[in-house]
Amino acid sequence: MGALEKAFYSPAGKAISAKAGLKEPPRLRRGRTWPQGSIVLASIGDGGFGGGTIGAEALTLLGRATESPVVDDQPETPAGYGARIGALVVDATELISIPGLEELRAVLRPAVRAIEPSGRIVVLARSEQDGWEAKAVTRALDGINRTVGKELRKGATATLLYVDADASPGDLVSTLGFVLQGRSAFVDGQAWRVSGASQPADPLDERPLAGRTIVVTGAARGIGAAIARTLARDGARIVAVDIPPAGESLAAVANEVGGTALQLDITAVDAGAIIAAHVATRGEKIYGIVHNAGITRDKMLVNTDAQRWGSVLDVNLGAQIRMNEVLLDPKTEGGVMEGGRIVGIASTSGLAGNKGQTNYAASKAGVAGLVAAMAPDLASRSITANAVAPGFIETDMTARIPFVQREIFRRSNSLSQGGQPEDVAETIGYLLDPRSQGVSGQVVRVCGQNLVGA
Ligand SMILES: NC(=O)c1ccc[n+]([C@@H]2O[C@H](COP(=O)([O-])OP(=O)(O)OC[C@H]3O[C@@H](n4cnc5c(N)ncnc54)[C@H](O)[C@@H]3O)[C@@H](O)[C@H]2O)c1
Repeated sequence: MGALEKAFYSPAGKAISAKAGLKEPPRLRRGRTWPQGSIVLASIGDGGFGGGTIGAEALTLLGRATESPVVDDQPETPAGYGARIGALVVDATELISIPGLEELRAVLRPAVRAIEPSGRIVVLARSEQDGWEAKAVTRALDGINRTVGKELRKGATATLLYVDADASPGDLVSTLGFVLQGRSAFVDGQAWRVSGASQPADPLDERPLAGRTIVVTGAARGIGAAIARTLARDGARIVAVDIPPAGESLAAVANEVGGTALQLDITAVDAGAIIAAHVATRGEKIYGIVHNAGITRDKMLVNTDAQRWGSVLDVNLGAQIRMNEVLLDPKTEGGVMEGGRIVGIASTSGLAGNKGQTNYAASKAGVAGLVAAMAPDLASRSITANAVAPGFIETDMTARIPFVQREIFRRSNSLSQGGQPEDVAETIGYLLDPRSQGVSGQVVRVCGQNLVGA
């Protein structure tokens, strides 16, 4: 539990919140934990129940037993489960028509009623369909997912996964495992795509990053420090990068995770070469880079001068592009290996726009554009490029916001609370997993389904 979360549950925090009429937010299930109740699997099709099999096969690989769904097909007596259920996974990969959507409603209704706290609703759909109705229905699933996410309570979440026709059950394992486990605690109402990558049909690995070198920038504190800890837990050798003034805390984080510290301003023109040299002297290559370092210099656009504009764009975007160019050059000793991973940090402020943050929004939306641009170019070397977009996360930065304003921000999402740095870190860990090969060019928001913006 983070310091701020502790503060909320402290007697003083409870008293202030009660006075302000605020309910205690649900405690979220986190980490490598599975739902407690049973996992219900429904395969729906085109009005006749019976559809795709990839969901069932992926759940078998994950070692999860499943139960059959209760179907709401009696208007007089709404059907119900006898006990709470842990998750509903709906394989809608064969769904192409409006009658098929009724099948979805009929399995969702009883499940939403019975879902346990921090339970999961997961819908698997095809990313590409032929025909107007099928395409419209595929998009309709997005509206359903976003709405179910908003209606679910007590920390339960909804996720829509678009699965390419060439994806195998092995390609889905890391994604479905992440979504069902507590690692995805603060990812809600989101949709992203899994492509075919011919992953072997292996189960989830508890330490998927064992022995792999991962560079984390801005690792001295906040989200970066949490990323270093979470990736080290998953077996990674961490190269922790931060500016020289943060040297002491950087060294503390690097020691704690058994990694190495590299004091470096990432805006230096030779930053990429310095990182590569640091890694090469250890006889290693980089498996992953997490471009986490970022700054804000907020002002309304009418007050934003060239200095505020340039510094944010350079730290948050320009530096990243320069480092990528060097580190992804196959000739760079100590650069990124084949099968490597790039993860950028965007922000919901960037994607949705936020008053007073034109420079920051430009840089963070730019990160989303960057990974989309890089992904196809890197595919032939099996390197993926993705971004996470955090919403309100409990860090030193957000702790400085006055209490009432902070409460409004942190509650403006479907889970009624701020996320923890570890929630961002867990999502990055999922994208870095070697089994997440089929996920590239995507942005996964870690925002509890922020109610602000698109
Ligand atoms: N906290 C949130 O709610 C939130 C929300 C959305 C996105 N983000 C993003 O997540 C990332 C981490 O955020 P945080 O809240 O932990 O911020 P933070 O300010 O607590 O930490 C950022 C770290 O980056 C380092 N850094 C800054 N400029 C650097 C440079 N030129 N070279 C090397 N290191 C540099 C800082 O020294 C610091 O240690 C940032 O990219 C931020 O934009 C945060």
